[in-house]
Amino acid sequence: MVRGEGFEPFRPESRFGFPNLEPLRDRSLSPAPLTWLGDPRVTAVMMIRADLMITKQGAFHPQSQRDITEQKRISSQIRCRSVLLTGKVALVTGASRGIGKGIALEMAREGADVVVNYARSDKKADDVTRDIQALGRRALSVKADVSNPRQVEAMRKRILREFDGVDILINNAGVHHHLKSWEIESAEWRQVIGVNLDGVFLCSKAFNKEMRARRWGRIINISSIVAFTGTDHEAHYGASKAAVLGLTKSLALELAGYNITVNAIAPGWIETDMTSGITPDEKKKALELVPLHRMGQPEDIAHVAVFLASEKASFITGQTIHVNGGEAML
Ligand SMILES: NC(=O)c1ccc[n+]([C@@H]2O[C@H](COP(=O)([O-])OP(=O)(O)OC[C@H]3O[C@@H](n4cnc5c(N)ncnc54)[C@H](OP(=O)(O)O)[C@@H]3O)[C@@H](O)[C@H]2O)c1
Repeated sequence: MVRGEGFEPFRPESRFGFPNLEPLRDRSLSPAPLTWLGDPRVTAVMMIRADLMITKQGAFHPQSQRDITEQKRISSQIRCRSVLLTGKVALVTGASRGIGKGIALEMAREGADVVVNYARSDKKADDVTRDIQALGRRALSVKADVSNPRQVEAMRKRILREFDGVDILINNAGVHHHLKSWEIESAEWRQVIGVNLDGVFLCSKAFNKEMRARRWGRIINISSIVAFTGTDHEAHYGASKAAVLGLTKSLALELAGYNITVNAIAPGWIETDMTSGITPDEKKKALELVPLHRMGQPEDIAHVAVFLASEKASFITGQTIHVNGGEAML
């Protein structure tokens, strides 16, 4: 549609000398326009070009009023695409399913390349990786237990072979056991604290080095509503999620000088495997406590994560954003 008269073949280095467009040289702009429209760097150049064609028609000599109308249509279409994470690399821990998968896909839709971390679900992680690639982004899946320092270090090395570093770290991986505190064995306690808290510490430590060097970064930790309300059946989980908030604030203070923001999201009740064990009756009772009267979806968390990762949130650090349908107004 943009290959009509008045448009030149796309040559990023020509005429306007836009910086950092070298990778586009090898990309084909056809046959799927939507694929390359999804590339924010192409979008940016096309937007400027479309505007120039409209405002400085002489520069491109459009042939007719029809051309101009078409160019205006293209320009407004391109403007409608919001691409907030252009050129960023995001690592989402626990991205094979549930909230992590939702965040990984939304980050890719907003222009980020994405590393999909997971612990066991090889096939699911591969599926997410393929979905991200289908969106026109680079994707890599890395199996690593975030509670294990050696595996986190191996994941870092693997990622650095593929990317220059991680710009956006989403500490999402989490586990829980539905147990009363007196039923929790110490191995279970250690596992939950290990994944939900140590994992946040280990990944934040491993991946902020390149962020500090670049003086730009985002760390987003997935906590929980129960960090505030408590929970009557998983004390280890509640403790780990509350501790993540303390860690979030300390990291935010330490890293602010490097232009790295660190924030937390505290989801309420989100429909994933983690919450799939409840009976219809339990669900009905739980929904009565949610003023918006529905369970949250992974996308509800993903949209907030994208915002916090974007430039639009550059003055927000050390904060917790509550996404819970009004269940707790904190
Ligand atoms: N769902 C909710 O209602 C809710 C509410 C508040 C907070 N949260 C928090 O949101 C986060 C995501 O929850 P979810 O509901 O999406 O959970 P989920 O559906 O159970 O998915 C958990 C994810 O974490 C990964 N994971 C588990 N242990 C790991 C480890 N040791 N190392 C690396 N990855 C690991 C899993 O990978 P595999 O597939 O390979 O096992 C999976 O991708 C968790 O931190 C959870 O505590 C959830």
